[in-house]
Amino acid sequence: MNKNVVPFFEPGLQELVVDAIKNKRLSFTANVANAIVQGDILFIAVDTPSAEDGHANLSALYKVVDTIAKNINNYKIIVIKSTVPLTTNKLIEQYLLSKGIDHGLFDIVSNPEFLREGSAVYDFFNPDRVIIGSNNKTSSNFIANLYKPLKNGTVPVVITDTTSAEMIKYASNAFLASKISFINEIANLCDIVKADIITVADGMGLDARITRHFLMPGPGFGGSCFPKDSRELLSTASDYNVPLEVVKGSLIANERQQHIAIQKLKNLLGADLKDKTICILGLSFKANTDDIRYSPAIKTIELLQKESAVINAYDPAAIENMIKIFPTINYYHSAQAATKNSDAILILTEWKEFKDIDWQSVYTNVKQPYIIDMRNILDPTQCQEQGFIYNGIGRFHPVVN
Ligand code: UDX
Repeated sequence: MNKNVVPFFEPGLQELVVDAIKNKRLSFTANVANAIVQGDILFIAVDTPSAEDGHANLSALYKVVDTIAKNINNYKIIVIKSTVPLTTNKLIEQYLLSKGIDHGLFDIVSNPEFLREGSAVYDFFNPDRVIIGSNNKTSSNFIANLYKPLKNGTVPVVITDTTSAEMIKYASNAFLASKISFINEIANLCDIVKADIITVADGMGLDARITRHFLMPGPGFGGSCFPKDSRELLSTASDYNVPLEVVKGSLIANERQQHIAIQKLKNLLGADLKDKTICILGLSFKANTDDIRYSPAIKTIELLQKESAVINAYDPAAIENMIKIFPTINYYHSAQAATKNSDAILILTEWKEFKDIDWQSVYTNVKQPYIIDMRNILDPTQCQEQGFIYNGIGRFHPVVN
């Protein structure tokens, strides 16, 4: 990264990093001890992936905390940005005390991050809110001040205790995930009763209590946060014997949603998908990222492999990552090439590029003209005019006289 290369795809980040390095406001080091000694505020932003039992794996976090314990030389504010299970901030404080670190040497502040991959830079500079949890008012105010320059100081700041701050992060993610599972199930029902999910979501979204955000149906939510955080919240609640049926239901619905594309394929191509060529457009868990963690494409490919289908795949950014998991499916460097001779085209990610494909020329090269658009990004009428048999998710176009 010191060589000005951001090793993953995130729009706008490369430019921002290069500019900050050039202006000597940013540098990277592998010498953690040295960074701790020099820092006044230590942000911990390591990964907290799901362990087998659904709980978050905190080994990376504690490794950093151990390094801090070994190297702390004067007062530090330790800010936990990583998404950590309820009460972790308190436990870290106790852990440091148990290691003999004087309480006067540190304060712990929980400051969860809400940015989305693909729009992380924008989200960082334009947060809806900043959440700060600490049992020390001075440290809370100090961290709150760091965010003052954003949106000319107009960003709402919630100052609270550490556990409430942790809960805000989990509850927000689990709520948004539930919202997506809800709209996915309603879209599945729309498919059966012939109602149009776009109009339904528009109509629902006009209710100021609901809003239109996160009402886009799709192949199921993926990414490094929603599946993992919902599972972690569920596991913690279960440790306390508190049922979270809505969160549980949202995860079950999400698992099921990943079978919908296969069902749609079978409805069009017949129950036997053996040797049928399925072209998957979109491998990342959403557009504008190369991240494939918990991507619905992974489960879809597994299910298609079980059916012995032939899989052609294209993604503008995520192929290199997907090759590591599925080395033997056919990857192409363009959507045009991937769609050639396919029995059906399956759109799994809402990359803008897919809207701009020359679909007319795609039509002339496919074996069968089926499109299953699990993101509803294409215009059904246009697809039909071009000769395709289009199948979105929950889409229906009534003829209204
Ligand atoms: C999420 C949260 O939004 C963010 O606040 C948190 O910090 C990290 O987790 P991210 O995982 O980057 O961000 O992506 P997001 O845009 O929230 O989408 C998550 C998943 O839900 C994606 O698979 C996306 O395709 C899906 N999604 C989102 C839908 O299927 N429909 C929607 O309406 C919105």
